[in-house]
Amino acid sequence: MPVLEDLSLACADQSFTAVVGPSGCGKSTLTRLIAGLLRPDSGDILLHGEPVLGPRSSVGMAFQNPVLLEWRTIIDNVTLPLEIVPNDLSRAERRQRSHELLSLVGLGGFEDKRPSELSGGMRQRASLCRALVHRPEVLILDEPFGALDAFTREDLWQTMHTLRSEENITCLLITHDLRESVFLADKVVVLSGRPAHVQFTAEGGLGAERRLDDLYTPEATDLLHELRHQIEIAQGRSPADEQGESS
Ligand SMILES: Nc1ncnc2c1ncn2[C@@H]1O[C@H](COP(=O)(O)OP(=O)(O)OP(=O)(O)O)[C@@H](O)[C@H]1O
Ligand SMILES: [Mg+2]
Repeated sequence: MPVLEDLSLACADQSFTAVVGPSGCGKSTLTRLIAGLLRPDSGDILLHGEPVLGPRSSVGMAFQNPVLLEWRTIIDNVTLPLEIVPNDLSRAERRQRSHELLSLVGLGGFEDKRPSELSGGMRQRASLCRALVHRPEVLILDEPFGALDAFTREDLWQTMHTLRSEENITCLLITHDLRESVFLADKVVVLSGRPAHVQFTAEGGLGAERRLDDLYTPEATDLLHELRHQIEIAQGRSPADEQGESS
């Protein structure tokens, strides 16, 4: 079954791209291709012009489920990638780097707790720190805030925006939350139904200093309206796809 077809997408260095689209259209498949966990049947995935042929440490990933190791403290969870990815840092430097990231996301003082002693939102913050601790150039986020309540999620948008600004990373976010895409991204891409291609792209984004209130400006409201319309078009393609599958 073809999942992605004729899909072309470019993400500028240090930009933030959000990808939205109907359930099952191939968003997670796209992230696995970019991360080098899957190989495309045809076409190329290029990172700085070089083909991606397998997983690499310069691409970090964070998922809906934080999957922290329960037997390790929070700081030891965050430091983990630095124990795996080759680097010249001493143990003290690794802990210092982890400590700085944890402080940045508001988890200063929770370093020695176990994951089960933290709330879902706090665990997700820790997992974002772990995804960034080895300074990847690219961070892929597959619905990282999907399992959180609305207020915690909005709080984490702000955290994510801070991390993105401080760490100078290129981000690709998969989300079903259109407000999240508009709040965080410089570019929002709507994928069509399966087999997915880029159906619609909106460039722009909010200012460097952004607040939740910015989502209620006329420009943001118009964009949200357009994105909703585009998703409906993308979903409208699904019945035709189901017929295609059975043939
Ligand atoms: N391991 C797999 N083996 C076979 N088919 C798969 C596999 N994983 C996903 N698929 C199929 O690929 C299609 C795309 O799946 P994918 O998980 O990429 O969708 P998605 O856009 O991330 O969906 P959602 O929004 O629900 O997370 C689906 O139709 C699914 O049936
Ligand atoms: Mg998915």
